[in-house]
Amino acid sequence: MPAIHILNGPNLNLLGVREPEIYGHDTLADIEARCRDLVAGKAELVFAQTNSEGALVELIHDARAAGADVIINAAAYTHTSVAVHDALKMIEGRVIELHLSNPHSREAFRHTSYVAPAATGVIAGFGAKGYEMAVAALLEG
Ligand code: DQA
Repeated sequence: MPAIHILNGPNLNLLGVREPEIYGHDTLADIEARCRDLVAGKAELVFAQTNSEGALVELIHDARAAGADVIINAAAYTHTSVAVHDALKMIEGRVIELHLSNPHSREAFRHTSYVAPAATGVIAGFGAKGYEMAVAALLEG
């Protein structure tokens, strides 16, 4: 069975209360539940969140070892982390860069992505629905 690892970076544990006018009212647990429904019986799903850069790198290493496709919302580390970039470059499966908001329509410091050069594709600006779009894209092959 294929494996999909959905990895979430800093502050996404507070989805639902964090700037809901930007990020919406769904919690990360709501999003995980909908993703689990979508993949049921079709793929192994790992869904994880960390506030730590090193832990995010280790989650990417775990995805590499599992031969998984990766959906990653690296959150603020998108814009800062060479370590996340380097780890993603070792993923042999597909990598989808995901954002709830559209970083390109926001502050200039969000316009640089260290994830994008390592990504197969990018989904941004569709809110929580973007996670389901990413899962659907991977399941459809
Ligand atoms: C985000 C966008 C980032 O710029 C920000 O730092 C986040 C969330 C998003 O999902 O829209 O934490 O990745």
